[in-house]
Amino acid sequence: MSEVTAIAHPNFALIKYWGKTDFVNNIPAMSSISLTIDTLTSTTKISQKPEMQENIWELNGERQPDLGQLLPTLDYLSKVGKVNEPCLIQSDNNFPTAAGLASSASGVASIVVAYNSLFDLGLTNQQMAKAAMLGSGSAPRSLFPGLVLLDIENQCDCHTLVEPNQWPLSVIVCITDDQRKTISSREGMEISRKTSPLYNSWLKANRHYIKQAKEAINAKNLSELGQISEENCKQMHEVMKTSNPSINYMTNKTIDCINEVISIRKSGFDLFYTVDAGPQVKIICKTEDNHFIQERVSNLPSVSHTLVSNIGYGARVTHEG
Ligand code: DP6
Repeated sequence: MSEVTAIAHPNFALIKYWGKTDFVNNIPAMSSISLTIDTLTSTTKISQKPEMQENIWELNGERQPDLGQLLPTLDYLSKVGKVNEPCLIQSDNNFPTAAGLASSASGVASIVVAYNSLFDLGLTNQQMAKAAMLGSGSAPRSLFPGLVLLDIENQCDCHTLVEPNQWPLSVIVCITDDQRKTISSREGMEISRKTSPLYNSWLKANRHYIKQAKEAINAKNLSELGQISEENCKQMHEVMKTSNPSINYMTNKTIDCINEVISIRKSGFDLFYTVDAGPQVKIICKTEDNHFIQERVSNLPSVSHTLVSNIGYGARVTHEG
């Protein structure tokens, strides 16, 4: 085998990670719960290139000046697998990169899976999660399907809580702006950890959020999950805003969209929103309601377009050659 292609999907956190305990090993300071979606996809082809001097990474057809966030992941993989062969890594996203749509998570997860297969490393889930985390703290979650827990109290164990076919949910991504974000999550988290007066209470509250969310997920109670998830999202954005310099990923368009979600909910639908390190709004709802809700938000002047997904599968190999 000289090349392998793998795909992975973004995941959106319902209980979020914002802050690290270990910057060097990129270890999140808190547990998180996410939802892996389908439709949006990162595809990575890794080809062995013995004639090259070093690994080369192309993203969306453009050669990158260096391996950036991928370097620690690739170092770890080549060390664990005792691989010393240069590769060409070609990643493509079918959605806007670095606009708060978790492109690094799905990108890194697809690379880990492709590399593991190409060199027949036989990595355990735990090793795959570690490799992914070195690239991006949210990336281990994209290795797994459905609703996923990344548990930092249990050696960063990452596993599925609910499989995709066990709960018919949809995610409507409302794109308000698809420009690259100005402050990366990585920089933002460090600023918040060092300067936000709310950071410690955010850290302490994590156990409570995880417990409540797990209970709601076990009971498949969407409104309970929505309540705890929105609370968690608002607290994270307060931590960001109270940082110095203040970080605000939400725009007026984001707020407009959130208000529409609240208004649709008042009319009797079960749905909730979440917002990450970008201005897009992700709406989680029952699959049976997704057309109606998509139509409502698509009519907003603040929403340029929407992307609808259901719950998706974990990272996987699609081609070996
Ligand atoms: C707001 O995983 O992108 O989306 O580990 O530095 O790569 P790095 O950060 P990243 O941060 C995700 C932040 C978030 C919340 C979340 O997904 O949990």
